[in-house]
Amino acid sequence: MRIRTFDDYQQAYQQSVEDPEAFWAGVAQEFQWRKPWTKTLQWNFTEPNIKWFVGGKLNITENCLDRHLAERGDQPAIIWEPNDPHEAGVTLTYRMLHDQVCRMANVLKRNGVGKGDRVCVYMPMVPELAIAVLACARIGAIHSVVFGGFSAQSIADRINDAQCRLVITADGAYRGNKEIPLKSVVDDALIGCPSVEKVIVMTRTRTPVAMLKGRDVWMEQELKQVTADCPAEEMDAEDVLFILYTSGSTGKPKGVVHTCGGYMVYAAYTFENVFQYEPGQVHFCTADIGWITGHSYIVYGPLACGATSLLFEGVPTYPDAGRFWDIVDKHQVNILYTAPTAIRSLMGFGLDKVENHDLSSLKVLGSVGEPINAEAWHWYDDHIGKNRCPIVDTWWQTETGGMLISPIAGVTKTKPTYATLPLPGVQPMLVDENGKEIEGNGVSGNLCMKFPWPGILRTTWGDHERCRQTYFSTYPGLYFTGDGCLRDEDGYYRITGRVDDVLNVSGHRIGTAEVENAINMHTGVVESAVVGYPHDIKGQGIYAYVIADAMPADHDADLTKRDILATVSRVIGPIAKPDKIQFVSGLPKTRSGKIMRRILRKIAEGDTSNLGDTTTLLDPAVVDEIKAGAV
Ligand code: WTA
Repeated sequence: MRIRTFDDYQQAYQQSVEDPEAFWAGVAQEFQWRKPWTKTLQWNFTEPNIKWFVGGKLNITENCLDRHLAERGDQPAIIWEPNDPHEAGVTLTYRMLHDQVCRMANVLKRNGVGKGDRVCVYMPMVPELAIAVLACARIGAIHSVVFGGFSAQSIADRINDAQCRLVITADGAYRGNKEIPLKSVVDDALIGCPSVEKVIVMTRTRTPVAMLKGRDVWMEQELKQVTADCPAEEMDAEDVLFILYTSGSTGKPKGVVHTCGGYMVYAAYTFENVFQYEPGQVHFCTADIGWITGHSYIVYGPLACGATSLLFEGVPTYPDAGRFWDIVDKHQVNILYTAPTAIRSLMGFGLDKVENHDLSSLKVLGSVGEPINAEAWHWYDDHIGKNRCPIVDTWWQTETGGMLISPIAGVTKTKPTYATLPLPGVQPMLVDENGKEIEGNGVSGNLCMKFPWPGILRTTWGDHERCRQTYFSTYPGLYFTGDGCLRDEDGYYRITGRVDDVLNVSGHRIGTAEVENAINMHTGVVESAVVGYPHDIKGQGIYAYVIADAMPADHDADLTKRDILATVSRVIGPIAKPDKIQFVSGLPKTRSGKIMRRILRKIAEGDTSNLGDTTTLLDPAVVDEIKAGAV
């Protein structure tokens, strides 16, 4: 099944299209199933209803842990690099990780969690986070990991939507020179979360925390009460493995649902092939486990393949901008998988931070999360890969579970800024606004998929209709990605960015509507409109046009802006704070009351020469005012 040459790729691709069921059955049989499946695939994209490996029984942790014990029990499964380079790290072998996952699973059981219960995980990037996730999977509980940068309000929304029974957190987290009081944020969240019965608190920063009797327990004390014997729960291939909340163009974030069988097969298959992973290699994915990239390519994909996965607690610029290279050197990293925003920010610090490190262990470089610009691509290639490591620009989404369009390292000829070709099993299609297929090469359109792959989302938690509407109704019969895409003369794909109202700020997905709602919660704000604009490091910055109760006088404007930022931080989290705020007296609206975002985007981009047709505006004069006041 392993692709080694471009011929292999072409053959695999062809089979995956001609006989997808046989293709994926072949891949899936390499895993450990308690009971084989009876039907490889059942699907339609209208309801939608997608099932892979129907009737198959398994537990993903048996595949990620138990299965490896005989052959590589003493090989490192997780290498943990702490925030502070002077603190001792931790290396967990497969045997140790198995042991700890079983213990944590028993702690969960002791605290009333069973199969199908939802568990919210709000943790620093420490081994216990991966352990918590796997412990849930061990007993069939559904994890919902919330990134440690989200606010109490965001946690509460996610906990309530999924009706979580238990929260796993830590006293605090270290990120660079900051200390984040995680438990205190959770306490604020839980004021509005009646479904939560228990909170398990890990000690990390020794920050004083409130511990409520009957609700809060210390992880370390709980672990003393259990054994390492925890048989894995038998799961159906289509039982839910996890929920991960992600932003869309409307309303609150949705809980994307992935299931046990298909997700496992897809995460592992793409990990092994795209990175051309070889046994014994060290894989360093710099994402946080709070995002899908961390789920699929720190935890499940690498462990399902028996790889060594490096987990880094800190940030790329602490204690200085050489930290990634320091880690690569220290742990002899073979595969480095990071985001363009990190590359761009490190580029700015110059080459001295790179040159004093030995990067010769690197074999493959990966990029994910946003379009990579040519300059960043070449810097990565020249200075990190020294022109000897293939770069895989992997395009995918929370909803896709794993990479869909990506080069296969050393196999697919790369082209800067191109995600290149669809992986086996992936059938992309470009369509115009009316849903008509755009055929041929040298074209661009909206990116859709016409056939399911095992890692595709199954539903959005608690609201299947929302899943249908968001992804399967824009173009009937197709999965719509929300991305724009061009296919060049060679048939290579290049993702050009979102075509909906979703921003991509430093590789983080944020809905404009979400930010607007947060801004509108500020007491002095009447209305707002948020758009993205090109940002040198973040990829996209957030530009907010705000109508205030009373137009703030110059000396107050700055304070009001800061209050708005504080409000957004409080409602969503610091990652959603606008980079620019402009107070306006009105917004460009059509006679039917629709905001013309096209105009606002142009102004935010600093391109006011050609604003297109403004004759349908209710009050065209407002455009001149906005142009004049642009920040
Ligand atoms: C964008 C992250 C260009 C895209 C795995 C997508 C990319 C959104 C790339 C999903 C890439 C991700 N090139 N754009 N290689 N990878 N994107 O759900 O707009 O956090 O729709 O998943 O990121 O973001 P998400």
